[in-house]
Amino acid sequence: MALRSMGALNVEGRRVLLRLDLNVPLKDGKVGDETRIREAAPTVRALAQRGAVVIACSHLGRAKGKPDPALSLAPVAPVLARLVGRPVRFVPDVAGEVAKQAVAAAKPGEVLLLENLRFEAGEEANDPAFCDRLAALADVYVNDAFGSAHRAHASTAGVARLFQERAAGPLMAREIAALSRVRDDPERPFVAVVGGAKISGKLETLTALARLADTVVLVGGMANTFLLAEGGVVGRSLVEADLVGTAREILAGAAARGTEVVLPTDVVVATGTDAPARTAAVGAVGPQEMILDIGPATRERIANVVATAETVFWNGPAGVFEKPAFAAGTLAIAAALAASAAFTVVGGGESVAAVQQAGLAATLSHVSTGGGAALEFLAGDTLPGVAALEEGA
Ligand code: 3PG
Repeated sequence: MALRSMGALNVEGRRVLLRLDLNVPLKDGKVGDETRIREAAPTVRALAQRGAVVIACSHLGRAKGKPDPALSLAPVAPVLARLVGRPVRFVPDVAGEVAKQAVAAAKPGEVLLLENLRFEAGEEANDPAFCDRLAALADVYVNDAFGSAHRAHASTAGVARLFQERAAGPLMAREIAALSRVRDDPERPFVAVVGGAKISGKLETLTALARLADTVVLVGGMANTFLLAEGGVVGRSLVEADLVGTAREILAGAAARGTEVVLPTDVVVATGTDAPARTAAVGAVGPQEMILDIGPATRERIANVVATAETVFWNGPAGVFEKPAFAAGTLAIAAALAASAAFTVVGGGESVAAVQQAGLAATLSHVSTGGGAALEFLAGDTLPGVAALEEGA
């Protein structure tokens, strides 16, 4: 169903509740990665320039329904202000008296940032009374928080239906367009590269990708469980023993549909993340060793597969890439995507961090701000945050 775009809303002189995903890593009380704030900034600027009172809101971390000073959005406000190019007034309240007064005092063109939504128990519970309080702050609602669209929370789902006028922000619209192109109409060959530590949490997406893609490349810790399912030797590597059967089913499903599955043939192993590393064939992993990255032959194979693709989706690192000794595989995947002329989409915090670290983000077609949301979207799920924006919903 069609989503109304933000441009179609009359916002001049009106109070706009703007749900953003400013869930960024904080390090020593400072923003560790600005990506999500940078992506949100143009939306804030556009609304302010059009004369709206912008009431920006987001969650940060998992605050469990009560205030936690370590998870305050306060450090985000100056970064947002710098990236928007306008002052941002941080409001140390979510939807109580302090927030009400701040909104009442704000003039058209001004930007407020409310405190972490998850400081209120009603947020994650999608509590109707909390939705009412939040909705009472504003006249219209814009959701630009694609990264949170898989959560049926008050600010992403419940509150939307309380507004006659609601719209998808430009980032939300771009994310949906890029991921729809991958999911619904990929140019072929379509190659999906999936990594990360675990299969659990990605099961639905893996099953969907094994159906949608022409080639599925499995790397990272999760590939260990697939290697085990194929009778491989993985030493002390991270595995999900309870999912070996599921891994076997996914492999069988892919084979039945003619989907090619690429698993590592060589790996980088060590007895610990600080121990000396060596390259080994997958059959030659020692009993005390752990697989911590993909090896050079596997990197080359992936580069070749990606080079022939017309569509590539990548989620999840190939190894413990925060350690330089185990980063080569992840960086090689980032480089392969950057070198490709295909429609390339990357989703998920760690793979996005890798393309950023390699300075390659600008060479990709789309870098998603959604991890879980992007995966659920590709699995075919209706995201509650998107459904709530649909007209007539
Ligand atoms: C994310 O980082 O994936 C989103 O901001 C959602 O956060 P959550 O997993 O804590 O709901």
